[in-house]
Amino acid sequence: MTIKDLIKLYETRKKIYGKEAYRYISSLLAEAKTQHKKDFKGADHEQSWRAFKGKNLEKLIEHIITDEVRSLGLEVVNGNSLERTKGENLSKEMSLLKRNLLIDYGEYGSHLPDVIKNDARRIPLNNDSVDFVFIDSPYSDNISYSNDIRCIGKISCEKQEFFDELEKVAKEIHRILKPNKAVGWLIGDQWKKKKFIPTGFLLYQRLEKYFETIDTICVTRRNQTSNTDIWHNRAIQFNFYLRGFKYLFIMSKK
Ligand SMILES: C[S@@+](CC[C@H](N)C(=O)[O-])C[C@H]1O[C@@H](n2cnc3c(N)ncnc32)[C@H](O)[C@@H]1O
Repeated sequence: MTIKDLIKLYETRKKIYGKEAYRYISSLLAEAKTQHKKDFKGADHEQSWRAFKGKNLEKLIEHIITDEVRSLGLEVVNGNSLERTKGENLSKEMSLLKRNLLIDYGEYGSHLPDVIKNDARRIPLNNDSVDFVFIDSPYSDNISYSNDIRCIGKISCEKQEFFDELEKVAKEIHRILKPNKAVGWLIGDQWKKKKFIPTGFLLYQRLEKYFETIDTICVTRRNQTSNTDIWHNRAIQFNFYLRGFKYLFIMSKK
């Protein structure tokens, strides 16, 4: 018994039941199992049948749905071949599909072919080549982002150096953006050890050198951790405001 035999069995049912034939897969498999047993010569038929069924049921389902899917103007793509084939060897549409699947569902060990990790102060893109930049930069050294020595999040926003480094990023964004195109920059303020740093305003002063402001947006927190009783009580006890928002500066290249 091969996948061809399975498909033949399905086609005989299709002649009888038409579009409803898929409802008869269980009886089809029962018949196939009997046939498989007749052909089988080893000791453990059950195990051999399980392996056969595991391998071929997916192929049979692909066969069953292909006509229907094609009649809608769509194409069935086998996940295994999509997974194994590199993006550059796929058609443009398939490569895009693969990329979207990776973004939506992720996959351990998979890397989007056109996403690279790089120091934002030296972006490997040409001058005037980009339509839009979105950046969610570090706000300070409040979080341990990585062990990368190039991480700007290792510098406290209490130091000038933090803004000097972000300014280098701003310059680089300015260089790669096409004229009049925009950057969206997300950043929050810092309140730490009874000291408030208006990180957003301090960055904004640097950005103004390179960009015209289109808008400033207040991005509010909804379900994040500071919106809890513990933080409300701490805020009252230690006399600070809860950081309930971040800034999103929308600016265009001067
Ligand atoms: C506020 S987090 C952004 C997190 C991101 N939006 C996310 O949801 O995963 C700041 C990010 O900037 C990265 N970063 C720090 N210094 C960088 C640099 N010099 N070049 C590029 N990225 C950097 C950090 O590794 C961190 O992932």
